[in-house]
Amino acid sequence: MKHIFQKGKDASKPTFLLLHGTGGTELDLIPLAGKIDEEASFLSVRGNVLENGMRRFFRRLAEGIFDEEDLIFRTKELYEFLEDAAKKYEFDRNNVIVIGYSNGANIAASLLFHYEDALKGAILHHPMVPLRGISLPDLSGTSVFIGAGTNDPICSPLESGELEKMLEQAQAKVHLHWEHNGHQLTFDEVEAAAQWYKKLI
Ligand code: MLT
Repeated sequence: MKHIFQKGKDASKPTFLLLHGTGGTELDLIPLAGKIDEEASFLSVRGNVLENGMRRFFRRLAEGIFDEEDLIFRTKELYEFLEDAAKKYEFDRNNVIVIGYSNGANIAASLLFHYEDALKGAILHHPMVPLRGISLPDLSGTSVFIGAGTNDPICSPLESGELEKMLEQAQAKVHLHWEHNGHQLTFDEVEAAAQWYKKLI
């Protein structure tokens, strides 16, 4: 997968896996990583799927309706890429925190839904429930920040609450943070994620 890796100043810090939103690129979330922890390494990945010229991490059938077969395939592809990247760049595979926005947050949530050991933590900005009807792995030891919108037209507050519950039932430690700016990712939400991260580290 096309990506940018930058080694941080402090190897004991987590490595951020950065996953952009629909129509974005691997450049989008790099400033966010710096705001959360400027000493951490990051691996920023470009989505492998194209939808009318827009980059995504998996196919969808319509807005909010996912191609589940492709989602599962792409989740595995990303998981395997992460394994290989950890060896290549020599970062601690057990100390990866994802930062994802929108489509990137959805595939990040799918990583959590499918793999017990994919991520140490997750900062999910405006995620949806990636898929239903599967049992989640044991996520005890995984901490998750969800940035949600009370008026998000793409992910309803009800769905944000549903995702929180599903992750908690899988024993993840979840913090649900509310904003009132639709589906947008605002400075205040990034600041809230940074505060959450400081307590985690
Ligand atoms: C998705 O397709 O992942 C969601 O609808 C969010 C987005 O538009 O990227």
